[in-house]
Amino acid sequence: MASKERSMPKHVGLIMDGNGRWAKARMLPRVMGHNAGTKTLKRIALKASDMGITNLTVYAFSTENWKRSEEEVSGIFKLLVKFVNSELQELKDKNVHVNILGDRDKLPDYVCESLDKLVGETSHCDGMNFNIALNYGGRAELVRSVKAICEDVKAGRIDADDIDEELISSHLYTGEKNIPDADLIIRTSGEERLSNFLVWQASYSELMFTDTLWPDFSNEEFEDMIFRYMGRERRFGGRNEEDK
Ligand code: FPP
Repeated sequence: MASKERSMPKHVGLIMDGNGRWAKARMLPRVMGHNAGTKTLKRIALKASDMGITNLTVYAFSTENWKRSEEEVSGIFKLLVKFVNSELQELKDKNVHVNILGDRDKLPDYVCESLDKLVGETSHCDGMNFNIALNYGGRAELVRSVKAICEDVKAGRIDADDIDEELISSHLYTGEKNIPDADLIIRTSGEERLSNFLVWQASYSELMFTDTLWPDFSNEEFEDMIFRYMGRERRFGGRNEEDK
């Protein structure tokens, strides 16, 4: 199973961390850090699409982010709507297909309307899948998958013995949209943990961390990480070819 990975990652996950510290260092309100982070996100998404990456998933708002101040939470939602209004045309021009991963139920109506527009108007695009994880948590995603499977068992549509990894995967937000497991997960700002991002899908992901704060994350650093990924050996629990 060992193989030197020479091809482009099929799925890259981004934990866009450090917006708050970026703002604090400039004595700006935190939401200004998210504003700068949104510009970085647009730049990196277009770069990923240009590089031929087929799936990019970004952690925009976690199930834990509700603990932040009302001002910050609504600031992030307003930035998201602004992003849709200003970038939708360019996303369509670049043939980018947008998916939303997460629980929409708690999101304000004006955000859901904007997301519907974003998803609806890019649904015909068959270029890069740009997946925005919003009110998303990896554990909540697993719970949702397990509940849906239990309903199927209860209704007699499947047998409990049919439950396997593939079935669980297929009931995740990613599985429902045919998004493969993450090959590479990048986290900025010096923190080295997954924080409930793509918990199931990250089982064999390569992980890369950088001290760079998200607003300062450059296209060059992103490209460098992709090239480093391509040079890595991925064993998926198997052994190194030379050791055999
Ligand atoms: C983490 O930095 C960042 C977030 C919780 C929000 C990320 C949101 C955006 C980039 C903007 C909206 C998204 C879209 C899709 C347009 P942090 O606030 O935890 O930074 P800190 O650790 O330095 O405080």
